[in-house]
Formats: sequence, structure tokens, C-alpha cells
Amino acid sequence: MIDISFSSASPKSKFDVLIIPVFADKELGEQAQIYVGEHNGYIQNYLEDQTKFTGKSGQVFILVAPQETLHKRYILVGLGKEEALKALDLETVGGKLSVALSSCEAHSALLDVRGLEPYVGGHISVGLKLARYSFKKYKTDSESKAKKDLKLKIISDNATEAKDIFAPLEASSEGISFARDLVNEPPNMLYPESYAKIIKDELKPLGVKITILDEKKMLKMGMGGIMAVGMASARQPRMVIMEWKGDDKSTDKPLGFVGKGVTFDTGGISMKPPAGMDMMKMDMGGSAAVVGVMKSLALRKAKVNVVSVVGLAENMPDGTAYRPGDIITSYAGKTVEILNTDAEGRLVLMDALTYIQQEFDPQLVIDLATLTGAIMVALGHEYSGTYANTDTLWTQLEKASDESGDKLWRMPLDDVYKKEMDSTIADLKNLGGKYAGSCTAAGFLEKFIDKDRPWAHLDIAGTAYINSAKPTIPKGGTGAGVRVLDTFVRENYG
Ligand code: BES
Ligand code: ZN
Ligand code: ZN
Repeated sequence: MIDISFSSASPKSKFDVLIIPVFADKELGEQAQIYVGEHNGYIQNYLEDQTKFTGKSGQVFILVAPQETLHKRYILVGLGKEEALKALDLETVGGKLSVALSSCEAHSALLDVRGLEPYVGGHISVGLKLARYSFKKYKTDSESKAKKDLKLKIISDNATEAKDIFAPLEASSEGISFARDLVNEPPNMLYPESYAKIIKDELKPLGVKITILDEKKMLKMGMGGIMAVGMASARQPRMVIMEWKGDDKSTDKPLGFVGKGVTFDTGGISMKPPAGMDMMKMDMGGSAAVVGVMKSLALRKAKVNVVSVVGLAENMPDGTAYRPGDIITSYAGKTVEILNTDAEGRLVLMDALTYIQQEFDPQLVIDLATLTGAIMVALGHEYSGTYANTDTLWTQLEKASDESGDKLWRMPLDDVYKKEMDSTIADLKNLGGKYAGSCTAAGFLEKFIDKDRPWAHLDIAGTAYINSAKPTIPKGGTGAGVRVLDTFVRENYG
């Protein structure tokens, strides 16, 4: 747990660590100068003596405080050039601070950013918070289970403004942590039915309306896509609908989000090779992002109406499994020839996309899915491939991407890719050619989007899970998609 609070005055109580910001070339702000000069220039001497710590953004330097001082340790933290401060760089700084604080085994820390802009403390804090995320639920040793609480106090000239800047960031980070938890859960624990219950237990108390469709209902409704993917599993599919009504008075149609929630993707009859198959527990990352955004919106009581639908299914091989060669009928009524049972995400999404458009007529639809290995080949782990059918929507998403650091890169929607998904014996096939796999998958989805409905599709296969940590993202589920969507909503709708 991390408890972050803001105040305008310096508290008199003792902290394990006092964090002092230093700018590039060892330049000090007014407040830092005071600390550095204290105790006969104790910090000053260290700072002058050594050459490695210069105040470059993200550098940290830990000092044991002299005995007579209030705090136990000092951490000097580099912020780079004062005139070049950037919110996202400060989050990386927060990530580096997190490592330094852990190495000091600090339970309390004071960060003094007086004299700096009010956003500085908030962004360092959110970086720190995101970096401290860990998933230790299934560890049984006492060291792993020990509660590592941290109380962080920020002293800022205008604490109220600093707090206001931090509040939505904190809501986003809560949504991200929840999405990470969901992705990190093992697939024997998180399967459609248990997942639906987790969503309900978490979001209902926050005021989100939850509706769950079970397998009987979906079969009756004719959802041939999600049912084909999930029917061979002992854990039958679910569809979860989440409604956040933050703006009662609005007559606007809601925003619509859709997520792929394949709780484990073996590939089915077109089975994946064994190496790395364990990673396929993350194939519900798109749904986790959608659920995470709903949590963020509810926590910050966003003045907006949003409806989200996640399709939850486990793709397993069995005597009852769907096969390559099958022709299935989607909820939209279109028939799909199955050529590869591992291209299952689009089948789950097509039914969820049809459902959300028919039931809620949203003003726009954004879907998120760990859809193709091909997007990983193209963009690696940095950018989520983004397909948008209007420039307006893309421009809004691009801005949210730049601001949030949850990075998107536009990919092409083209009728050529769409055509490639035509089948000779059914309306569509679920497999394109050898190349442009992410683009043809998007082309497939586009066939299920109503004419004139603004729509974007985020292929997050490369970004939802990472094997090597980044400063504010530990290894494992990343929560990719939560922050960019939450930012997109906040900037354009409420
Ligand atoms: N879940 C996978 C995509 C994926 C790959 C996600 C790697 C995360 C990391 C998806 O269902 C899949 O298997 N896609 C196939 C599509 C192919 C059969 C057209 C792929 O990418 O190989
Ligand atoms: Zn697959
Ligand atoms: Zn999949």
C-alpha cells in the first residue's frame, strides 16, 4: 500500500527519507538549497565531492543523514533541466525513486517540491505508485507476504492544486493496478465465470451497473462466435456488460468500449506450440483494460456515460471443440468460415461489437484486444497498433497517447484488407493471408461495425504483457490501454 498526501507546510514529524530534488548540473531550487546547506553543508560536501550524480533526470543518490537530524536518510533525485521538465519524465523519476526507497527499506518519505510547478509532485507520485505494483498473492513465504507500506508526503506551495492534479492520475493508476491484477491471475483461477464475478464484486459497489450473459442465454441469442470459441472448455463463456452513468442529464449517446477476454488461448484444435503457451493467460488483456477504465471512471466520478462489453471465453481443444472447416453464424447473422481456431479473438469480438451497437447505439466504439502476434512483429512492446475509421477519433486518441505515455501508433484500415477476409463458401473467413495479420484482423472486425459509426480498434498483443520491467511497469501485466482511454475520456467528454 502507498498512502500519498499533500501539504503546503513542512511537517515536524520524522520520516525515514527526505527526498530533495536536484536539477541538471547540480543546480538547486530555493528549497533544496536550504536542505543542502544544513548541518555545516553535510549534503553539499557529498554533492560537490562526487562526479557521477549530476542531477540528470532519474538519477538518485542516497545519503545517510547525520545523527542529530530529523530524518534517517536523504535521497537526492535528479530532475534534469528545470526548463525542460515533462510530466511523463517525472513519472519515470518516480519509478527510479521507488527502487531507491525500497533499497532504504523506507516506510515513510517526504518529498519537498516547493518552488516547483504543482504538477511535479503529482506526476512523481503516480510514477512511484505504478512502479511499486507487485503481484505476490500466490507467494507463501513470509518475506514476500510482508506488507510493504509506504507513506509519502508531498510538500508543495499550492497543496490543493497539486492534489487536484493528482486525483485523476490516482484514479487511473487504480484502474491500471486492477487491470494488471486481472492479467497476472493464473488461468486456473481466472476463467469466464470467476472473472465475471470479480468484475461484479469490484465495480458494482462503485456504482457501475453489471449485467452478465451466461452460455445458455448467449446460445439462445445466437452468439455463434463467442460460443464456438468457448464451447469446448469446461468453463463456459460469459459476456459482461458494464454501464457507468456519470451524467444523468446528458442526452448524448454513451461511449462504447469492448474488450477481448480470452482467459486462456491454447489455439484450440489449431493448437499453439508449447513454448511460451503459459503467456496466453494474458489473452484477456483487452477486457482487463476495459474493466480497468470502468474502475477509473467510477473512482473519479467521471461526468460521462460509458457502456462496456467484454466477451469472456477459454479457447480449448476437446471433442466438442469447433474445428477448421466449420462454418459458424455470428450474432450479426453473417456466416464465418473457420480456417484456424487460433484466430479466435475476432470471433469473440464480432459478437460483442454487434451486441453493444444493437443494444446501446453508442456514439463511438473502441475495442481493445490482444489480437495478433503480427502487431508484435510490427511494433514490439512500445506501441499499441491502432486502427480508426475517422481522423477525428484518431486525432483525439493520438493526443491522449502523447499525454498519457500509453502509446498508440496508427495502422491502416483499407478495403484491400477487408476484402481479403471474404470467403468463397461463407460471408467471411477468419484467416487472412501470410502478411499484414494485424491489418487483416482489423479488416475482419470492420465488417461488424455499422456504417457511419466512429470506431477504433487497439491491438494490444505487444503491450499488454512484458517480460522485462520498465521504470513504472513491473514484469507481467501492464494495464496497457487503461490510461490512454481514461485520458481520452477526460479530455473530450468528462
Ligand atoms: N492471442 C493470440 C495473439 C497473441 C499473440 C497475443 C502473441 C499475445 C501475444 C491470437 O488469438 C492468435 O493466436 N492470433 C494468431 C492469428 C493467426 C492464427 C491468424 C496469431 O497471431 O498468430
Ligand atoms: Zn489465438
Ligand atoms: Zn487469442
